[in-house]
Amino acid sequence: MKAQMISGKDYAAELAGQQAARADTLRLLGIKPCLAVIMVGEDPASATYVRNKERACQKVGIDSRPVFLPEDTTQETLHVEIDRLNADPAVHGILVQLPLPAHLNEAAALMRVNAAKDVDGFHALNAGFLLRGAPAVTPCTPKGILYMLKKARVPLDGAHAVVLGRSNIVGKPAALLLLQENCTVSLCHSHTRNLADITRQADILIVAIGKPRFVTAQMVKPGAAVIDVGINRVDGKLCGDVDFDSVSDVAGWITPVPGGVGPMTVAMLMENTLEAACRA
Ligand code: GUN
Repeated sequence: MKAQMISGKDYAAELAGQQAARADTLRLLGIKPCLAVIMVGEDPASATYVRNKERACQKVGIDSRPVFLPEDTTQETLHVEIDRLNADPAVHGILVQLPLPAHLNEAAALMRVNAAKDVDGFHALNAGFLLRGAPAVTPCTPKGILYMLKKARVPLDGAHAVVLGRSNIVGKPAALLLLQENCTVSLCHSHTRNLADITRQADILIVAIGKPRFVTAQMVKPGAAVIDVGINRVDGKLCGDVDFDSVSDVAGWITPVPGGVGPMTVAMLMENTLEAACRA
């Protein structure tokens, strides 16, 4: 039986309508929600993501303030820009697009963002709240994943959730959120032994490792929910970390690439920005 496809694109479009109404209400109260996105350098993938974020802001009615800095920007200049946005009362959300060029200290830059404006949830304070199980701001990709699982009515309580990839952006926060939903969580990575034995036990499989079509049907339990976070370009075409064609014959639910996790990440960024504007 073919898996049910979970369309992040459809959910995001539905959410955009609700978010536009919330932005209107805020504007009536004299608050114009505003997101600043800092991008250093010219990484083409990052440039595409930043453009998508700008487009989503326009659709919802959030002011967007892109800040493009040259590749050779120093740490000090980056911090001056962050400080300027921290101090600007018209800016509610600040996002530093990752990855930064190799000469820059990513952790220091993320710590520089005022935690109240940290719509990515990457500041150590916000990461700490998430670890304690009381998130103030939830990172966008894991938040989008959970939203999709709940909307598709995938059973969470007591389910075995296996997360492939231990990044600070996706793997670690996704594992914590699923734990909060009473899943039993296995967090796997490049040193994990007998990986397929573990993935085959997953009721929910989250894949965020950046290897095109890495997860095949043989690695998936029949009926599992498979969430593909990967975005890879192979022969000019986008594909995920999951071999969609073979896995959709085995899984119960599956997200496509494109049109799955990507649009939900942007939708949750809009959500976090509106929440930051409400708090302000
Ligand atoms: N690069 C890839 N994903 C993300 C994200 O969610 N936030 C930021 N700031 N950079 C990213």
